[in-house]
Amino acid sequence: MNVVPFKHPRDRGRRGMPARLASSALQTAYYETVRRLVRAAELHDLETGAHLCRISHLVSVLAQHHGFARQQAEMIRTSAALHDIGKLAVARAILNKPGPLNSGEWRLMRQHPVIGAGLLEGTLSPLLHCAREIALSHHEHWDGSGYPFGLSGEEIPVSARIVMLCDQYDALRSVRPYKPAYDHDTACRILFEGDDRTRPEHFDPRLLDLFRRIHWRFDGVWKRWKRRHGPSFTLLAESCTPHPAG
Ligand SMILES: [Fe+2]
Ligand SMILES: [Fe+2]
Repeated sequence: MNVVPFKHPRDRGRRGMPARLASSALQTAYYETVRRLVRAAELHDLETGAHLCRISHLVSVLAQHHGFARQQAEMIRTSAALHDIGKLAVARAILNKPGPLNSGEWRLMRQHPVIGAGLLEGTLSPLLHCAREIALSHHEHWDGSGYPFGLSGEEIPVSARIVMLCDQYDALRSVRPYKPAYDHDTACRILFEGDDRTRPEHFDPRLLDLFRRIHWRFDGVWKRWKRRHGPSFTLLAESCTPHPAG
């Protein structure tokens, strides 16, 4: 994964700004773009916004323990906040439907990775490129049973494999129309042993092993989240997409 290259400070742009400052301003603009897209997701559907924000915290834990350098982990963490951005194109009535989705609604819902990737397509920004990669592949499964393309194993970018595991944990801890919110122990048991929707084979086995060693940190993220936000969420974009220097 690349980061925006810094040129020598004496290299000046057309308006006389040192290249390093121009590059830093550009990075700030990219982070600002992410923050505003997350805000748009919140305005469309508050729970999607809350989910995007929690995911970025969970991903930060897993990426750092996976051994990514701080800057790379930060990029994955920030990009992860956009993994479901394609849900902007899914009607609120479907996102919040109290009962099970019918087949047409599922078909629409399952398009959100491709829609999200389309939204982030054609960027020169490494940050948004990473976000596109995650948006497109975060529902792919290690055993090839996921969507949209049925990729398997290391065909799936590692950033998306990390987000997929965190996404599943967050879904298990959250209320869904088809299930209650599970406690941490139940969520872990389902990830390790499976249930009627989730199989351990869906996950990169090395990441699942890593999760086994540090799962209590995920519970910590959830407990902090509940303490901080309680049942009523306010706009959250500020808390999940840090400034590049932060
Ligand atoms: Fe998703
Ligand atoms: Fe998600």
